[in-house]
Amino acid sequence: MKQRILFVCLGNICRSPAAEAMLRVLTERAGKADSVEIDSAGTYGGHSGERSDPRMRRAAAARGIEMTHRARQVREEDFDRFDMIIAMDDNNYEALFRLAPDREAQQKIFRFREFLSHNPDWSCIPDPYYEG
Ligand code: 4NP
Repeated sequence: MKQRILFVCLGNICRSPAAEAMLRVLTERAGKADSVEIDSAGTYGGHSGERSDPRMRRAAAARGIEMTHRARQVREEDFDRFDMIIAMDDNNYEALFRLAPDREAQQKIFRFREFLSHNPDWSCIPDPYYEG
């Protein structure tokens, strides 16, 4: 059965589409592309339809990763479709919690930092939009 994973940040133009693209490359390299579905979305819809931020695309391209995602806002139906919904910071986590229709849906929400094996001091993936 396919594992369906959704990464969520604020604008869906920097952190979550980068995580999406990276995990896609990693699963392709591992020969497991068919066993996962990966997507990303933002809690804020103001960038919907846009390509990822050029700074993030450049950073990804420098590592051999192409980012083709178009931004979209997270929606309640995502809790039906996805098995894991991974928030890049605490604000996104709390916004997802408010959007989740029930307790079962809330149990699908994780913080990205839970999966970091290095840099354990990081409490989240910081918002890069204004700080670079
Ligand atoms: P992201 O970065 O959440 O990693 O996509 C941001 C993108 C846009 C804005 C904030 C953060 N914004 O305020 O428009």
